[in-house]
Amino acid sequence: MENIKKIVGIEAAKFVKDGMIVGLGTGSTAAFFVEELGRRVAQENLQITGVTTSSVTSEQAKRLGIALKDIDDVAYIDLTVDGADEVDLDLNGIKGGGAALLMEKIVATYSKDYIWIADDSKMVKHLGAFPLPVEVVTFGSGQVFRLFETLGFNPRLRVDANDVAVVTDMGNYIIDLHMKEIKEPQRLAKLLDETVGVVEHGLFNDMVKTVIVGSADGNVKIIT
Ligand code: A5P
Repeated sequence: MENIKKIVGIEAAKFVKDGMIVGLGTGSTAAFFVEELGRRVAQENLQITGVTTSSVTSEQAKRLGIALKDIDDVAYIDLTVDGADEVDLDLNGIKGGGAALLMEKIVATYSKDYIWIADDSKMVKHLGAFPLPVEVVTFGSGQVFRLFETLGFNPRLRVDANDVAVVTDMGNYIIDLHMKEIKEPQRLAKLLDETVGVVEHGLFNDMVKTVIVGSADGNVKIIT
């Protein structure tokens, strides 16, 4: 599996050219993309500026010597490459397994081009087997939780190994919705967008143009 992630990470890095402002995704797959960019910066003198989607990715990029800028200090982002938790046949996806969905969605929204990298186990017919992360403000999060229960969304507050609520880089909680199958992602996204207390959710509908998918036999497919 690690090898597939590495292959798609390296493949995605080929889309990065000199002078680009690059959105750097979060997660175990995106980490290989960032690693390859770091290699190119060091060995090929690639000139890029990164905009990161989490504190973890910022740390990795700094270690690798990739120049970084705050998202508000760039006019736009040329290309963002990120991982995904699930991708359906229409290239809608679920993200946020690593709790970085809010920053990831903001960086993706202000990117001219957006690519996901994934192994083929992430490609699904319908979204929802992977629990949908929803980032909520801590104040009133219990009320939002109960609302999700009433709606039959089967919510669980995300906790760490010590059973303490996970707090995102933006200071919020994550409620994961164990819905099993999301039949209408657009409709669910609208409902979540309109729910007071929800900051953002992990449904990334109609956002990505290209998905680079790797399989165990070493094959790489570019889906557009
Ligand atoms: C981070 O919050 C996520 O959106 C990740 O990009 C996603 O969970 C994919 O992560 P992996 O590449 O580790 O599976």
